[in-house]
Amino acid sequence: MSHQAAWQEDVRIRIRPGRADSGVKLYVTDRDAFGEVGAGSREFMANTHFLRYPGLFEVLVKMLAAQEGDRPLRVCIMPLSVGLEAVSFVIAGLRQGLFETRRVSVEGFDISRKATELARSAIYPRLFFPDDLSPYDGLLRELADGYVAVEGAITKYMNVLPASDIFAFEPDTPFDMVICLNLLMHVAEEDRSRLVESLAALTAPGGILCLNNNQEWPVELVPHFKALTGPGGGFVSLHGEVEKDCVGDAASAGERPEFAVTDANAMILRRVTP
Ligand SMILES: C[S@@+](CC[C@H](N)C(=O)[O-])C[C@H]1O[C@@H](n2cnc3c(N)ncnc32)[C@H](O)[C@@H]1O
Repeated sequence: MSHQAAWQEDVRIRIRPGRADSGVKLYVTDRDAFGEVGAGSREFMANTHFLRYPGLFEVLVKMLAAQEGDRPLRVCIMPLSVGLEAVSFVIAGLRQGLFETRRVSVEGFDISRKATELARSAIYPRLFFPDDLSPYDGLLRELADGYVAVEGAITKYMNVLPASDIFAFEPDTPFDMVICLNLLMHVAEEDRSRLVESLAALTAPGGILCLNNNQEWPVELVPHFKALTGPGGGFVSLHGEVEKDCVGDAASAGERPEFAVTDANAMILRRVTP
């Protein structure tokens, strides 16, 4: 299938003007994938965009670079959607020289096969990207037909895993960093503890989990993770206000945060040794 046909099928794109680098939201509907998860699951749409959380990714890259030792590091971005978060993360890493100092692979998966195919194609509609592509020379190449090819260092460091359900995914080895954005708030309340268990299994002891939420933090996080953001550092919303404390005991026992999070209402946690 041509990339035009792949993007035109089942993909709706909404343009939201006025915010640099984030004017476009896309929706990939994949009803087939949701059918497999069971009757109780909700329909999720793969909405995402390029350079969505630059402040957060800058922080996460710093934290990854600061991981002890010199072993190769693996990042898992889940849900990956069509891959734009992984593209953005690699760009954040390149800007900070991450790949010059550490061996890092940025991996990811999503339950949607359609989103996974689009992520693998590494070709996106032009309107996802800023007008000026010159800061991304060698990374983003404008094609003649209104699309942009992602290439060079980005594809070198990025690895799109087969489409998988987080509730069934069994990593061969857990990841040094797991980035799970915009999933928790979509998961039914009765599935939250299962999601936390799955994220704990995905994250190596001592590794980092970043997730976000627009409601309260699930208390199930406490036995598995120590909060690195919270009281003493707080986490800061898109509007620049300190939002709220993180979960109970984990917060008071938490390390003093070394990094301030500036977008995504994100929480950064360290996996405790089980
Ligand atoms: C709102 S999007 C978030 C995408 C991306 N992380 C972001 O923030 O831009 C939610 C994604 O979760 C995926 N998803 C839903 N349930 C899932 C599951 N059980 N396992 C893996 N991915 C899932 C959907 O296919 C969709 O791509």
